[in-house]
Amino acid sequence: MAMLEVKDLNVYYGMIHALHDVSFSVEEGEVVALIGANGAGKTTTLHTITGLLQAKSGSVVFEGHDITRKPGHAIVRLGMSHVPEGRRVFANLTVAENLRMGAYTRPKSEMAASLKEVYEWFPRLEERRNQAAGTLSGGEQQMLAMGRAMMAKPRILLMDEPSMGLSPLFVGEIFKIIEKVSSAGTTVLLVEQNAKKALSIADRAYVLETGRISKSGNAKELLNDDAIKKAYLGE
Ligand SMILES: Nc1ncnc2c1ncn2[C@@H]1O[C@H](COP(=O)(O)OP(=O)(O)OP(=O)(O)O)[C@@H](O)[C@H]1O
Ligand SMILES: [Mg+2]
Repeated sequence: MAMLEVKDLNVYYGMIHALHDVSFSVEEGEVVALIGANGAGKTTTLHTITGLLQAKSGSVVFEGHDITRKPGHAIVRLGMSHVPEGRRVFANLTVAENLRMGAYTRPKSEMAASLKEVYEWFPRLEERRNQAAGTLSGGEQQMLAMGRAMMAKPRILLMDEPSMGLSPLFVGEIFKIIEKVSSAGTTVLLVEQNAKKALSIADRAYVLETGRISKSGNAKELLNDDAIKKAYLGE
């Protein structure tokens, strides 16, 4: 069985049927991208997996645990961390305080070692550790959101549009870190509108179109797929 198995999810916002029988899987060690246009249902999918939204039907199984109806904090304890769309850092807290919040499920004795590890990935965060998070640039806030998620030592990291609103330089830096996190053993589910970047680092990908999975496959193959090029890569 795959590490994460999402099966036939149907999700509604009132009368709006946002996800239609969405199924996909992520194997341990993979980077899987979920790409799609605005409003396709990418964030809805992540929120349903992490327990922020309830599916009307379907299931989510993570490492053998049925997490479909589990609350978010229980899911974090199982080893799943979420880097939300728009970062959502605590603006009035410092960088270090934000990072510590990410470790609320971990033993206090491991805090220092986890902080050290995150600062190795993000030296910019260490330099700014006593700065209020609200005063960081967009790219730095993305690093902080990612660092905060890594403080929980997740087995799988779910990221919602890490490249949004960032300069190409920062996008490159963030994607390099995603690759490093992956090499260090964390499985990654990456939601992106920036299909080109996402497909360039992913192993496999799924395309979400108005709430339905319309295509899936090897990421490198999808990069060369004519329909994908036309619809998502601007080629
Ligand atoms: N709270 C809500 N209430 C009602 N409809 C919603 C709500 N949140 C999302 N939707 C609708 O569900 C659909 C999917 O939205 P979702 O945010 O999942 O898309 P997305 O793929 O993440 O888009 P984007 O790339 O713009 O972030 C959209 O049609 C959206 O309008
Ligand atoms: Mg979204």
